[in-house]
Amino acid sequence: MAIESPADWNNDRIVAETFVRDVEVHESLPSTNDHALQLATDDAIATPRLIIAEKQTKGRGRGANIWWSSAGSLTFSLLLNVDPQRLPTSRWPEMSLTVGTSICSAVAQLLPGEDVRLKWPNDVFLRGRKLSGVLVEIPPRTSGRIVIGIGINVNNSIQNAPEELRETAIALCDANAEVSRQDVLISSLQEFDRQLGLLIDQPDAVRRLWRKFDLLTGRSVTISDGLTDATGTCTGIDDDGALLLRNEVGTRRCYGGVVQMSG
Ligand code: BTN
Repeated sequence: MAIESPADWNNDRIVAETFVRDVEVHESLPSTNDHALQLATDDAIATPRLIIAEKQTKGRGRGANIWWSSAGSLTFSLLLNVDPQRLPTSRWPEMSLTVGTSICSAVAQLLPGEDVRLKWPNDVFLRGRKLSGVLVEIPPRTSGRIVIGIGINVNNSIQNAPEELRETAIALCDANAEVSRQDVLISSLQEFDRQLGLLIDQPDAVRRLWRKFDLLTGRSVTISDGLTDATGTCTGIDDDGALLLRNEVGTRRCYGGVVQMSG
């Protein structure tokens, strides 16, 4: 599929078909998350707001990760206000996971029969390689606002990626999927809207999705929070979104960190 140009974004369609109220499309930004974090401090900015960048010059990932992207990739951030009556901040780790399962569901619908998985907390894997990453951030000095940054490799073949990614990452076009970034974006946003509603009203339905897509249960993993590492066997995802890690010390509940698989 040809790489779509910025002019191909149809903002009216995005607003009509999703919960997003305003859309910004930028030719280039350092990072859509940085831009959204800046906007978040301005109360006059209406939400939900979607920020799309054709190119990021300083795309950030979780921990010390950077996010590689090139023409044909989908990089965007959502600035949301979350009603604490409906979803208290104590449940935001569950929302973070649910962003990941929303992308899993959208990709699974676009590519029926493919092996799509959630690597806790919210990486999306296709055919055992990383397809998408999510960076959730809470803007300082705001209340109820959250920034959800998402990168999805769509029409940016990993053949053109830096060498260290060529064995571990994948794009939808590498799996022979002929999809537009706009369709992937709209499907992912629609799924997120649906699953966020379920998380509030029927949380067990979303917990089943976390477990349906879960990649880590039964595997040996190491989880790092930037200060310490813990190694053990992943025994599941608990109802509150915690990753359960069992080793000789006992079972540890993990709410954040970067996971590496070793078996
Ligand atoms: C990760 O895999 O560690 C998370 C990657 C998140 C990348 C997205 S791309 C859009 C948004 N802007 C950023 O700078 N990062 C996120």
